[in-house]
Amino acid sequence: MTSLLDAAEQLSRDELAVLQLERLRATLRHAYENVGHYRLAFDRAGLRPEDCRSLADLARFPFTVKADLRDNYPFGMFAVNQSEVRRVHASSGTTGRPTVVGYTQRDLDTWADVVARSIRAAGGRPGHKVHVAYGYGLFTGGLGAHYGAERLGCTVIPASGGMTARQVQLIQDFRPEIIMVTPSYMLTLLDEFERQGVDPRTTSLQVGIFGAEPWTEEMRREIEERFAIDAVDIYGLSEVMGPGVAQECVETKDGLHIWEDHFYPEVVDPFSGEVLPDGAEGELVFTSLTKEAMPVIRYRTRDLTRLLPGTARVFRRMEKITGRSDDMVILRGVNLFPTQIEEIVLRTPGVAPHFQLRLTREGRMDALTVRAEARADATSAQRADAVRAIATAVKDGVGVSVAVEVVDPETLERSVGKIKRIVDLRPH
Ligand code: DLL
Repeated sequence: MTSLLDAAEQLSRDELAVLQLERLRATLRHAYENVGHYRLAFDRAGLRPEDCRSLADLARFPFTVKADLRDNYPFGMFAVNQSEVRRVHASSGTTGRPTVVGYTQRDLDTWADVVARSIRAAGGRPGHKVHVAYGYGLFTGGLGAHYGAERLGCTVIPASGGMTARQVQLIQDFRPEIIMVTPSYMLTLLDEFERQGVDPRTTSLQVGIFGAEPWTEEMRREIEERFAIDAVDIYGLSEVMGPGVAQECVETKDGLHIWEDHFYPEVVDPFSGEVLPDGAEGELVFTSLTKEAMPVIRYRTRDLTRLLPGTARVFRRMEKITGRSDDMVILRGVNLFPTQIEEIVLRTPGVAPHFQLRLTREGRMDALTVRAEARADATSAQRADAVRAIATAVKDGVGVSVAVEVVDPETLERSVGKIKRIVDLRPH
């Protein structure tokens, strides 16, 4: 097993800390000297890159937020000449300008290396065929997975997202061992296998590497059972790199090892910004340690999780993401995340793993309706039971009353990539 690990995966914690500090200091210098935004932000805080003498000193440096990237649209956060930038990606976001990110050749190499490491941790080996159904294009999912799989020595099937019937055909004919796709689109594929009369448990697939959106242990169980595969989690974000910032190991399935030799994590209190000790839940913050084209210093992801000690690898783990602070619904003072509803819906007999959350306003109060889809074989009595079971579980587990509708099979919109769970119908 050891021979399968790359050099950085075999460092001790102490060796890793030395490497991190050296890379951190170089990154702070690079950002300060080459990006107007960081020079100004450090100057305002009265800090010089040299003031970072230990990893803990990083906490004195200012945060970077998505608005900083938008304000410097398109290339103002780049730290190298444009002629050094080999590729750009962008995340569409919901409103306004996209966030643009850039990569030098060395950045692209690093990215391929960390994705290769991720696929290997998931159980992928040279010679495996990898079906990539993350979208190709400005989104980092498709191309990020693609070059990582090639780097590992796999055969890539660059399916991208969409054309679901053809995806099923390709999986049947090309017989990939691995699929990389959002968990919600995997469910869309599941429906299509069944529609075509193919038992999803009989495919060549052995492992699914799922990410780009939050998903729960209940979803893991559903996908693993229905497809007879191992389902593991991959995390990343374009601002920091793309997929491959952290990856769950197939032998432990106990959260995601952060590739800490390239991405330095902190968890902070989302309100005060104070750094929290490992084990405490808060907002994940990343500082890149090796990026050239677009170094990021203390980038606030808005993703909520906890840092945990390493198990299958020396690197620290992050727990599965609970949700994004932007996706948190505050209902009569109670915080609710779509993942909490996912857990409940997937545990409820008679309903399929498809649901949607509708937010409306009644008078001055927000109201939430959980719409879940009945399983094809559910009787009307089972559907009525499911309505009651979901409402009770939300009331007991989350602490708030919601309306529940169980709708007919195949009526909720299906995902082709990242799913949008919340439909906000409140007047603005
Ligand atoms: O979603 C990169 C990616 C592609 C990751 C494919 C994994 C697989 P963005 O479009 O910039 O990049 O969106 C990043 O997606 O801040 C999280 O909120 C969410 N996200 C990504 N992976 C996970 C995951 C890609 N495994 C945002 N669990 C992040 C939960 C995730 N949320």
